[in-house]
Amino acid sequence: MKLVFLGPPGAGKGTLAVRAVETLKAPHISTGNIFREAIAAMSPLGVKVKGIIDSGGLVDDDTTIALVRERLERGDAAAGYILDGFPRTIPQADALAGFSTLDRVVNFDIPDAGVLERLSGRRVCRKCGRNWHATFNPPPADGVCDKCGGEAYVRDDDRPQAVQKRLDVYRAQTEPLIGYYRAQGLLVDIDARPGVDEILSAFKAALGL
Ligand code: AP5
Ligand code: MG
Repeated sequence: MKLVFLGPPGAGKGTLAVRAVETLKAPHISTGNIFREAIAAMSPLGVKVKGIIDSGGLVDDDTTIALVRERLERGDAAAGYILDGFPRTIPQADALAGFSTLDRVVNFDIPDAGVLERLSGRRVCRKCGRNWHATFNPPPADGVCDKCGGEAYVRDDDRPQAVQKRLDVYRAQTEPLIGYYRAQGLLVDIDARPGVDEILSAFKAALGL
């Protein structure tokens, strides 16, 4: 099944994707994770995008589209995938339609207050990308990931100024995709406010899994 996860920053797209791949047996492709890995590796892509991402802006469409196109050409994505965080603009969605055919677009619906609560408590493993939440799912007390030994840290773009910018960018550039995909009959709305298990059940029921 070829899916897009759409929704504001901090809605829980990445958290649900990690759970959903167990059922779907398809790769979780997060453009944000790919950019953060490039930044950690200090590759040319990472150097180019670091400032943009830390401040909460969007990487340019051409760079992002080329990256996703190349990733979807890999064999593991032939039968299905979860695209998390792409497309984020109408030009990205138009480009995607030219090289892949989606089955569904899952829209994570959550008010701004919920987003702020989730992002202000998020901790992420610097090495494997696993995430926790200071209140809802606390990281190990020593701040060391129990899966890979990496450091649990606060993403630079989770600082208040960048969060506000990410929300503004979401409203202006990404939210219009809800209407875009609804008009194509692809949109599935999911209430993203409950706990992860409840969301996973609703997701499976909505997709007939
Ligand atoms: P990206 O990494 O995609 O960030 P985002 O869209 O802002 O989304 P987040 O990862 O912040 O949130 P999420 O919905 O995955 O929530 P999570 O599961 O972590 O992109 C980062 C940057 O890269 C962008 O700003 C941009 O610069 C660039 N970029 C990426 N794609 C791009 C594109 N297509 N075009 C241009 N630029 C692009 O959950 C959040 C927290 O809540 C966690 O602590 C989690 O533990 C907790 N939580 C999750 N679900 C629940 C729940 N149900 N109950 C309680 N707590 C929960
Ligand atoms: Mg994410």
